[in-house]
Amino acid sequence: MTLRGRDDIRRVGLVGGGVIGTGWSIRCLARGLDVSVTDPAPGAEENLREAVGRAWPIMEQVGLADGASQDRLDFVSSIEEAVSGADFVQENVPEHEDLKIEVFSEIGRHAPRDAIIASSSSGFLPTRIQARTEAPERVIIGHPFSPLYILPLVEIVGGRETSEEAVRAAAGYYRRIGMRPLHVRNEIDAYISDRLQQAVWHESLHLVNDGIATIPEIDAAITGGPGLRWAFMGTAMAWHLAAGAGGMRATLAHFGPAMELPWTKLKAPELTDELARRVIEGCDEATGDRDWREMQRRRDICLLKIQEVINEYWYPPGEDGWPEMGEA
Ligand SMILES: NC(=O)c1ccc[n+]([C@@H]2O[C@H](COP(=O)([O-])OP(=O)(O)OC[C@H]3O[C@@H](n4cnc5c(N)ncnc54)[C@H](O)[C@@H]3O)[C@@H](O)[C@H]2O)c1
Repeated sequence: MTLRGRDDIRRVGLVGGGVIGTGWSIRCLARGLDVSVTDPAPGAEENLREAVGRAWPIMEQVGLADGASQDRLDFVSSIEEAVSGADFVQENVPEHEDLKIEVFSEIGRHAPRDAIIASSSSGFLPTRIQARTEAPERVIIGHPFSPLYILPLVEIVGGRETSEEAVRAAAGYYRRIGMRPLHVRNEIDAYISDRLQQAVWHESLHLVNDGIATIPEIDAAITGGPGLRWAFMGTAMAWHLAAGAGGMRATLAHFGPAMELPWTKLKAPELTDELARRVIEGCDEATGDRDWREMQRRRDICLLKIQEVINEYWYPPGEDGWPEMGEA
């Protein structure tokens, strides 16, 4: 059976309307799609519509597709209603494996058999998520990054039963809604990006736990230096370029011996109450009196502008070293 691909997709069914379900809603509505969302939490519809309205001005700056409208958002009261008329389904319930397996089983019973069912999971194995889903070959992980209406990366991971066609068709759809799919070809916990983020996070926790630095100091150590490079280069390319003509070969010769030193700890320290307190208070200190909504608004504009600069001055897609997937 041929799966519904990028040009067949008019309506997206979203299961779970929290942070990530809201992000998908905003991105898909701005691209002119119809969106059906279900979420049993009290006040979920009101919160969702308020968040979509709040993000709309920035989506106008990003550029709205023809026909894009907040009126295309339907909030419905069951998974069946959300997915039965959907051309593509994206699940965004909390990160509990048993819940996801259960929800996938229900989605599989009601979604059209040729519709892809994607999970936003941050780290579960698709082979386990698809285990009890009808037509498991159409199940993929489509792991986005918050705020997902601005950030383009989506990691696509297939399970043992996922077809190659599902991976390609999902990539085509994500591209259509302005994202850059990255195929995680080997199924692993936490995929690629969260594994990297976790490594930095574990080190941050050790630095706090050992009393070496505060949260604002650690964040400054990223934002003033590596973070600016990471916006478009990645660690390897940054070090390759930093060494000038010698490139990575010179970097490894120069710093290779230091790699033997026990600079990193990597395994997370125990999350004691004291450590949690220091991390939370550090974030509060860095936030001060500023309102989180205003901070999010400014973050979104920064991310947009950074991408505009990258688009203008860095290499265009196809020449920037991104491991492109084949067209769907
Ligand atoms: N927050 C992030 O930055 C982020 C980034 C990438 C991926 N993710 C992943 O996205 C998923 C959702 O995370 P989130 O941050 O949006 O969580 P969240 O807690 O903000 O939202 C989850 C929502 O799912 C709803 N829900 C619970 N059971 C449900 C059901 N049976 N049917 C429909 N809705 C149900 C809850 O009421 C809640 O509103 C998780 O798998 C998470 O790992 C999160």
